[in-house]
Formats: sequence, structure tokens, C-alpha cells
Amino acid sequence: MAKLVPVEEFDLVIFGGTGDLARRKLLPALYHRHRDGQITGDSRIIANGRSAMTRAEYLAMARAALQENLADGDFVDKHWRKFSARIDYLQFDALAPGSWQSLQALLKGYESRTRVTYLATAPSLFGAIAKGLKSNGLITPQSRIVLEKPLGRDLESASKINDEVGRCFRENQIYRIDHYLGKETVQNLLALRFANSLFEPMWRRGTVDHVQITVAEDLGVGGRIEFYDNVGALRDMVQNHLLQLVCLTAMESPSSLHHDAVRDEKIKVLRALRPIDAAVAREHTVRGQYSAGAISGETVPGYHDELGDDASLTETFVALKIEIDNWRWSNVPFYLRTGKRLNRKHSEIVVQFQDVPHSIFPEQSFNVQPNRLVIRLQPDEGVKLSLMAKEPGPGGFDLRAVSLDLSFEETFGLRYPDAYERLLMEVLRGNPALFMRRDEVDAAWQWVDGIIEGWAESQQKVESYIAGSWGPSAADFLLDRDGRRWYPEV
Ligand code: BG6
Repeated sequence: MAKLVPVEEFDLVIFGGTGDLARRKLLPALYHRHRDGQITGDSRIIANGRSAMTRAEYLAMARAALQENLADGDFVDKHWRKFSARIDYLQFDALAPGSWQSLQALLKGYESRTRVTYLATAPSLFGAIAKGLKSNGLITPQSRIVLEKPLGRDLESASKINDEVGRCFRENQIYRIDHYLGKETVQNLLALRFANSLFEPMWRRGTVDHVQITVAEDLGVGGRIEFYDNVGALRDMVQNHLLQLVCLTAMESPSSLHHDAVRDEKIKVLRALRPIDAAVAREHTVRGQYSAGAISGETVPGYHDELGDDASLTETFVALKIEIDNWRWSNVPFYLRTGKRLNRKHSEIVVQFQDVPHSIFPEQSFNVQPNRLVIRLQPDEGVKLSLMAKEPGPGGFDLRAVSLDLSFEETFGLRYPDAYERLLMEVLRGNPALFMRRDEVDAAWQWVDGIIEGWAESQQKVESYIAGSWGPSAADFLLDRDGRRWYPEV
């Protein structure tokens, strides 16, 4: 297990402390870090919410949330007692001066410690909260602010939020979360690429045929449907998570792990993305929406039925063919797909190498498959390299694809920490490397805005797909046209 370095005493103020994110992710992550001894001294967690609740009521809610969201056996009363002693609850209304006074009173006397404000609220409140923190004298030199996604719904709205927050906090105090950057396997991509010399000479045009990135979810949009209907898969997943995966896969080696060194390389990739406009939207993109179907034997309703509106054209699936205009990746397409209510939860990056230039096994040519490096993000995080081998036997010469398959869990025998555990510790330590800099967010929105405009202009259809499938057949045609197929082939 990697060495755990305790973080210095802190005050963490969570706006949206009763919300879904706090209950499902933030409290469990903080509990784990407390249990492992990384949270020390009398570090405090101050949860703010609009609900009128006493501290005892909040603790009862937090306890239930942990019991529901921690893995079996992880909730231990002894740890909970000490962890809960760190938690306070404040009924809060950002527009009410009384709320700010109560927060001031709670924070008074703790000015010298790290103070993190986590905004897990609607983004429309980010500017007002930042302003409130400033005008009430609650920003100290040790203050940091964490912004949850979605950060706007286009470049214009994101810029507005960033400007408002930027008037109160310096850029190096602002931590914009993309939780994919906290996932162990996503960080392992850096180790795989830059701690091994094996792949670098092959990681380019001439040897790589194409790259595929799939982030498939079996879940639907559930309780967030009204919010989601205004967003769709392109904004919800591609603008942030998938583009970050593209960046880490495609970027040049940074000169160090210094946060700006890494982010400087990522932004070069974002700026090299070839725009997708109305003229090419149909050829390069697929929009889909799920209809009723079955997942793992259970019938699930279609998106329209869940929403109660037959007219919605919001995409719950998107597939893209993207091109990166630089020397390394010229003519090497990256195919991306993500969607809700797909066959199963399954996320991976597949780097497919080119075919052998000449086969000396003419009778086996139908058996010879190109090598693939598969980086599995979830579930069963690991790396698999497929190779061709000879089947054992004294007669004939039969070839078969075999895999060098590394499962991180089996190799390291550890619980995989949730991304939020890592990210919260990085904020508390003051390391912004795993967070998005403003120029990255802007560049990603600018590119995504182009696709959205292209869809509107070309009136691109939303294709229906059956829940439990791998998306609309148009997503298969996207690769078929180029003589390729999604991996794994189903
Ligand atoms: C969130 C999206 O950012 O990521 C959700 O808003 C999505 O719609 C989630 O379900 C997926 O995260 P993970 O970690 O489960 O792959």
C-alpha cells in the first residue's frame, strides 16, 4: 500500500452538505481517510444545507448514508464515533446574512489552518457563495475552493462562473473537480506511459492504428432526470471525463509531475482537436437515446417514459470519431462512446496497433489479430495486452490471440480507494495537479460547443437504442465505415 501522508489540520466547509454527492461520495471518502489516520488533530467538517436540521439529525443522516454507501464491513462504530465528532451542521441560506454570521462564528479563531470550501451545489450558486465568502471576510491566504461539475453548460456560462469565482479567489486557490482524474487507473495511465520505456516509441501514428475510449453505464439517469434532460451525454460525460482521458492518452510527456507541467501538455491536446461542425457532424458523431429494454434480466423503462415527455431529444448516448491535429496523432482516429442504460458498467481505453505489414502465416491470416493494449478503468481495473501465439501441439501451426492480463486488485490485493478520497486529500494538501485549470475547461467547452452547434444546424437525428444494448447501430457504422469495430466485439 502506498504510504499515507497525514494532512495538516483543516476546516472543510461543504455547501450542499445534505445533497446526493455529500451522502454518496464525500462523507464516505472522508470517513475512509479518517479511518486510515490521514485526517488528524481536530480537523473539522462543517456541512451546510438548506434543511432545518439539528446537528444530531444531520449525524443520523450521515450515519445512514455511510451504512448505505460503504462496502460491507467498512462501517465500524468505533471509527464512526471519532469521525462524527469532527462533523458539524449549519442550516444555511446563501442569501441570508444570518447564515454568514453563523459561519463566521464557527470559523473564528481558525484562520491559520487550511480552509477548504467545497461547493456541491447547483453551479448557479457558485458565484454568490464565492462572493459571500469574500464579503464576509472568510477567505484566508490558506483558503481553497472546490467547484463540482457541471461548470456551466457552454463556454459562455462556464466563463461567467469562472469570472465570478475568479473575482474572489486566485486561480491557484480554485480546484475544479473532474472525478475521473482521481480514479486509480486513470493515474496509472501516467505510470504506464511515463514509467515504462516500452510503449513510448509505439505510442504514435505509424504503429497505433486507432484508439477507442468507452465509458458505458448500465444505470439510467434516475432521480437526476430533470437536470439531465437539460444537459445530455455530450455535456455530462464527454466535455469533462472523456476529454480528460483523451488528454492523458494523447499528451506528450510532461517535464515533471508539477501541476502546470501536466496541465500544459493536456491543453495542447485540447487545442489540437479538429473541430466538428455541421458539415461533418453526421459523419463523425452519433446521438442516441435509450428505449425500454432489459439489463441483467430486469426490464427497464425508456428515457421518454422516465421523463414523462415524448418530445425530448436529449442524448443519453454519444459516439464520436475525433482527430488530433498534431504530428504524433495525425490520421490516427480516436473513437469515443459513452451512454446510460448500456449492457453493463464497463470503461476502458483500447490502443489498437497496426496489422503486421506482411504475414508469413498465409493460411492463418484470418486468425492473426492486431495487438491491443486495453486499459480497464472499471470494473476490475487492470491492463491487458493481446498478443498472437502458437497453439501448443506437434502438428500444424495454429495461431491464437492470448493476453497478458494484469488485474490491479489481484496484484496489489487492496481495496481501490474511491476517486473522491484521493481528490479531497489533494485539495487539503494544496496540490492542484488532478484538477482542471480554467483554460482547460474553456478549451473543452469551446470544442464541445462546436458539436452542439453542428447538431443544431444539421438537425442531427437522435437514434433510439434498446436499453441493455451497446447503443444505436449507427455507432457501429461509425467504425464500420473505416473498416474497424468496437472492442470488445459483441
Ligand atoms: C458523473 C456524471 O460526472 O459521472 C454521471 O454526471 C455519471 O451522469 C458519473 O453517472 C459516472 O461516474 P463513474 O465514476 O460511476 O464512472
